[in-house]
Formats: sequence, structure tokens, C-alpha cells
Amino acid sequence: MPDVTDFFIEKFHKNLDLEHELSRYYSPRPYRNAVVRFRSCSIHDFEARREILIREAGLNPFLFRADMIPGCDLLSDSGTTTMTMEQWSAMLLGDEAYGSNAGYFELKEQVILTFGPSWGQDKSLFVGENENVFIFHQGRACENAFFTILSRELRKRKSDSKRKLSNELLPALKARIETKMGFHPGGHVASEPPFFIIPSNSHFDTTEGNIEDKNLIPVNLPCREHIEKREDFPFRGNMDLEELESLLEHERDRVPLVYLTVTNNTGGGQPVSLANIGKIREITKKYGVPFFLDACRFAENAWFIQQKEDGYRDRAIREIVHEMFGHADGFHISLKKDGLVNIGGAVLIKDDGDFTRAYPRFRGELTDYQIMTEGHPTYGGLAGRDLMGVIEGLRTVTRQEYLDIRIRQIERFGERLVKHGIPIVLPTGGNAVYIDMDRFFGDTARDEDLKAIAFTALLLIAGHRLCELGLYSFGRYDGSKEIPPDPRLNYVRAAVPRLLYEERDLFSTAEAIKLLYDNRERIPGVNVDYGRNLKLRHFKSRFSFK
Ligand SMILES: Cc1ncc(COP(=O)(O)O)c(C=O)c1O
Repeated sequence: MPDVTDFFIEKFHKNLDLEHELSRYYSPRPYRNAVVRFRSCSIHDFEARREILIREAGLNPFLFRADMIPGCDLLSDSGTTTMTMEQWSAMLLGDEAYGSNAGYFELKEQVILTFGPSWGQDKSLFVGENENVFIFHQGRACENAFFTILSRELRKRKSDSKRKLSNELLPALKARIETKMGFHPGGHVASEPPFFIIPSNSHFDTTEGNIEDKNLIPVNLPCREHIEKREDFPFRGNMDLEELESLLEHERDRVPLVYLTVTNNTGGGQPVSLANIGKIREITKKYGVPFFLDACRFAENAWFIQQKEDGYRDRAIREIVHEMFGHADGFHISLKKDGLVNIGGAVLIKDDGDFTRAYPRFRGELTDYQIMTEGHPTYGGLAGRDLMGVIEGLRTVTRQEYLDIRIRQIERFGERLVKHGIPIVLPTGGNAVYIDMDRFFGDTARDEDLKAIAFTALLLIAGHRLCELGLYSFGRYDGSKEIPPDPRLNYVRAAVPRLLYEERDLFSTAEAIKLLYDNRERIPGVNVDYGRNLKLRHFKSRFSFK
């Protein structure tokens, strides 16, 4: 007769089966709380929030006091991670030496373990003309430094900024580039019209801002499945390869490098497949153009490849990450995402890569720039203790059980919203749920009304913070009307911080969203009272209800 314990063990196993509908209730989180923080406000304080929202914040979620949010603060998944006890304890051992602190050497080792052997370096190359790891205080500082040096390098190249774009380019692509060429944000007028183009699946707003600031042209090439909103397509973050090939075939000399954002934050937190990464590598090799990643959410991207791409189901996350980064000549990363820390960023440039071959002096120049603006290359823009947090974060982020719970949590949040009839981008991404405002408000909403801003404002009164990533953040005002981004996107993003909230918290946000959706005909438009013409205007503008 079988042992009674065998009987129950089989039953317990069955309940944990991930496909099993109730498995989530039987399966505990793979971590437990070590510290908690009580709120300093109550969900019932509606009038207080209304007062702050209208008088202090001008309806702008970025300007609303975080300590007055009793619900979920889903403004960003960047720098909002709850760090682990392992990270906090490692930080206590941080070495605050002014030069060559212990953390720098440990980070260089961890880079090889996390991103693969091709990112290793002989110690004789550390710091100087050939450093391959550049530490900055966050992602946009990396972007600023990188594109500053790149634009200086490009000035040495022959370029005819009056030359028209080739008529052989795919027509939609040509039109998109021309729009970008004619637009100088914030009234900035460079002495020369821009010539060089930096393509990506989709640039993040600060990346785009930094590229434009250096008089370069950022251009997005999201895949067709994304534009067609194909809900059955698991890799909507992919780049459109036909457009990339067209660009490189006809305007090769304008493209100093090709970028790819993994996962594609602007395009809905959607992952990029390894097949797409491999093809981009092939095309960039064919035309001799270096290939870089914006790698903020590299581990989340690897999880999607493991779960959804043929041939990767049995591969460990680390192996997939190594394969992804094996294709790249360099990358920049905001460590505030998959570094699992509250501050930090880095640029990495491969010793034996096409970028180093194309721009041999670049790393020396970047080192000088880093010393002038951030700090000695061995700590960059961070304290020694921050480096220890990063190293430990990079160890945790590729753990299978961490990524399983992280991304499934967002999937369930999305399922809850779908159950309530809310139109979201499907499949759900790795870091956030994106609500499609075009479908939320339907055809009757006019772009000028910016109803998505009113929606986020009313949600703040309910006690939850989301942000608009659409017509206002990526569009522009031409002096008489709002011009939507091209390709069009009109989302409100609920970005879920790592290891911070439980399902119950997220479901309370879902209920507030449902209430607003059920009463959407009552949601007004907004007037822009300040900042309509500013660069990166969504961070600073003020609005009032119409
Ligand atoms: C894809 C992407 N790139 C770059 C950045 C900029 O990083 P940071 O916020 O650390 O400056 C972000 C930030 O959200 C991002 O999502």
C-alpha cells in the first residue's frame, strides 16, 4: 500500500502546477518581507489629495507628493525596487576609497558572470584608453556622455547636412525621418541641420532627448505586429527588419550605430526575440554598422525568450542573457531597473567589437568625460556602497524564481484589468501594464483634449499614481495644434516596481481604473496652463480640468 505521505505529496505537487488555475494561491512568494513601511496617509483622504493635485501639482503626476499616495505608486519601475537583505548587507561592506575601490574589481567580475565572457578584460586594460565598463549615476547620464562623445567623433566624418534623403527609402520610413529632421525641440536651433540618424525599435524619452540634444536624429522602427496591435504576437518589441535594411541600404553613411531597447519600454514593455536580435546583428554586420543595446530590462527580456521563443524553454536565464549580449558591440543600462538598485547606470563597450573598431579613440574620450562629469572611472557616479548593491542586484535579477514571480504578477494585474473590460496592450509586458487610451476613450475623444492626463489626475484622487506615455509625452505642439507621435502611441503606463507590492495592492488600483472606465464619459479634457512648448514637457507641465 502506498505511504499516506506519497498520496499527499502528489496532491501538493499538483496544486503547485503553474498551469493549474489555483496554483498561485498554493505557491508562496519565493521571498519574505524583511522590512515594511507604514503609509503616512489614508485611502480616505480624497479631499486632501484633490487639494494637492490642483494647487500644488497642476494635475501632473510627476509633481504630486509621493508621501500622499496611499495606494500603488506606479509612476515608474525605475529606482523604485525594494532591495534585498543581501544587497543591504553587501552595501555595508562598500569600499569608499577615492580610487580603485574593491567594488570596482568585483563589478568587473560580475559583468562577466552576468553578461558573458566576451565582456571580460585583462587587468592591464582597466582604466585608461581601453576601459570597457563606465559607471554613471543613472541611465540618462550614460546617454548624455555617450552621445556627446559620439557627436564629437561624427564631426570628424564627412557629412553633407543639406543632402536630401534617398527616394529609394521605404516611403513611410522616409516621411518619419523627415518629420524628425524638421523638428528642433525646445526651439533649439543647431548651426547645421541634423545629418546622422540613430535608429532603434523605440527610443525611451530621455534617450530620444539626449540624441536630439546632440543634433542627431532618433528614429523608431517598431515591428509591424506592434503597430497592428497583434495580441497573439509574443515579441511586439521587435524591430522592423525591412525598414532597418532599407535605411542601411540607402543611407548607410548617416547611421553611426543601430540601437535596440530590451525590453521595449516605450512600445509597451514588450520583449524582443533572440531571432530578431540575431537578424539585426546580421544586417548590421552586412553594412558594417555597430550594434548597441539599451539594456535596462535585459533579464525580463531573457525570461520572455525562455518562456515564449522556440528552442529556449530548457535554457537557463543566464545562458540566454549571454547569447543576447554576445551579439552586441556595446550597451548602456540604467541599473535602476534590472540592476535592482535605486540609483546607478553604466555604459559597456566590447574590446573586440565593431564599435571599438569604428571609433578607436572613443573609450579614451569617454573616460575623460567621465572623470570630468562623474568621477574616477573606478567609481564613476556612484558611492562604493552603491556598487556593492549593483553587484548583488545583478546576481539576484537572473534568478528564475525572481523573474517568475515578477513577470507573472504583472500578467495577473493585466488579466484583472482585461476582466474589467479595460483595453490594455496585450500580451502584457515585463515591467508594466499599458492602457490604450485610444480604445479607452473611443473615437470621439479629440487629441487636443489630452484626456489621458485627466484620467491620471482623477486616478491620483483615488490614491494611485500612473503616468501618461503617449500624445503629451511623445507628441509636440506646433504652435496651433498637437502633433501626435509617429508611429502613433497613446498609452497610460502602470509601471510595477520590483519586489514592492503584493497582488492585493495592484488589484486595488485595478478597481479604481474600472470605476473611471465605467464613468469615462464624465472624464473631461485638460487645458495646458504651462509648458506646452518645453522639451521633455511632460515632466514639468501644469494642467487644469476643462
Ligand atoms: C529604456 C530606458 N532607457 C533609458 C532610461 C533612462 O534611465 P534613468 O531613468 O536611469 O536615467 C529608462 C528609464 O526609465 C528606460 O526605461
